[in-house]
Amino acid sequence: MTRISKNISEAVTILKSNDVVAIPTETVYGLAGNIYSQKAIKKIFEVKQRPFFNPLIVHVHSMAQVDELVSEFPPEAKKLATTFWPGSLTLILPKKDTVPDIITAGKNSVAIRMPNHPTTLSLLKALNTPLAAPSANPFNRISPTTAQHVKEYFNNCIPLVLDGGPCKNGIESTIIGFENNTAVVYRFGAISIEDIEAVIGKVQIKTTSKTTPNAPGMLAKHYAPKTKTYLSNNLEDFIQSHPNKRIGVICFKNPLSNQHVAHTEVLSATGNLKEAAAKLYQTLHKLDTLNLDIIVAERLPDVGLGKSVNDRLERATK
Ligand code: TXA
Ligand code: MG
Repeated sequence: MTRISKNISEAVTILKSNDVVAIPTETVYGLAGNIYSQKAIKKIFEVKQRPFFNPLIVHVHSMAQVDELVSEFPPEAKKLATTFWPGSLTLILPKKDTVPDIITAGKNSVAIRMPNHPTTLSLLKALNTPLAAPSANPFNRISPTTAQHVKEYFNNCIPLVLDGGPCKNGIESTIIGFENNTAVVYRFGAISIEDIEAVIGKVQIKTTSKTTPNAPGMLAKHYAPKTKTYLSNNLEDFIQSHPNKRIGVICFKNPLSNQHVAHTEVLSATGNLKEAAAKLYQTLHKLDTLNLDIIVAERLPDVGLGKSVNDRLERATK
């Protein structure tokens, strides 16, 4: 049986013995293995049923550890790292030969992030080896934001979930790479485009799989609950056109008083986009357990983290 524990030294022992551990971060829980352990990394792909063409994010605790992994750290990337690390930003950088091909799916770049979670930073320091960690969910399912979510997904398949409480940001990191010296956003995430642009100026957006052969994980269908999910600009109209269904509704700030709705959740009563993003996955997880016929979410304003939430909801509806 998978254990949930707060004990960092237990996680160290397991990771040193080439096994995997689920770890908390401020975005979502990750399924972690030592990047130099073939056995652990293979197990990550196996447990997640993740295709080998989809590369992993490497987690570090210091800039010195980044030097061990990258052959070049462009000034704009360094500016972003200095501003946002530890934090919810992943940088795609040219890799050194020492980074195993299985981590990068044979690409000559590596995805790196310094997570902002005290438990995982302590773990990384204790190990002093970078950890590869994709989100700890089976392929195409909603990312976990509590230790319990991970246990529900992978009970008996992994030895330990290191419990760091619920994830504060609750949505994956923003991914940024560089093409011809221009910053390119490959995944919307917990840091808004506006905040990135305040540091390095205008960025290019390539977040759909058609435009991103470079970010193989950004498939159109992703982050999906088991219950059929829709995204709507007008909840009242949507509900009216789906009679005789048990509908679960996700509202942005104002709850809906509609008698045909089986269950309503509000993402942020004060209309705060950061709070809405933080609550998104836990809300989808919850609605998915209620035996609803359908889930419908209200589209958020297309600014700041509203963009990230809309992006995830669009992928959940495919
Ligand atoms: O917030 C997060 O980033 C979480 C936590 C655990 O850190 N991790 C996470 O990992 O979301 P994952 O594997 O679920 O998503 C990683 C994404 C994938 O879409 C993958 O294709 C992309 O990063 N990626 C990884 N390495 C890449 C590379 N070298 N070039 C382009 N995209 C890359
Ligand atoms: Mg993921």
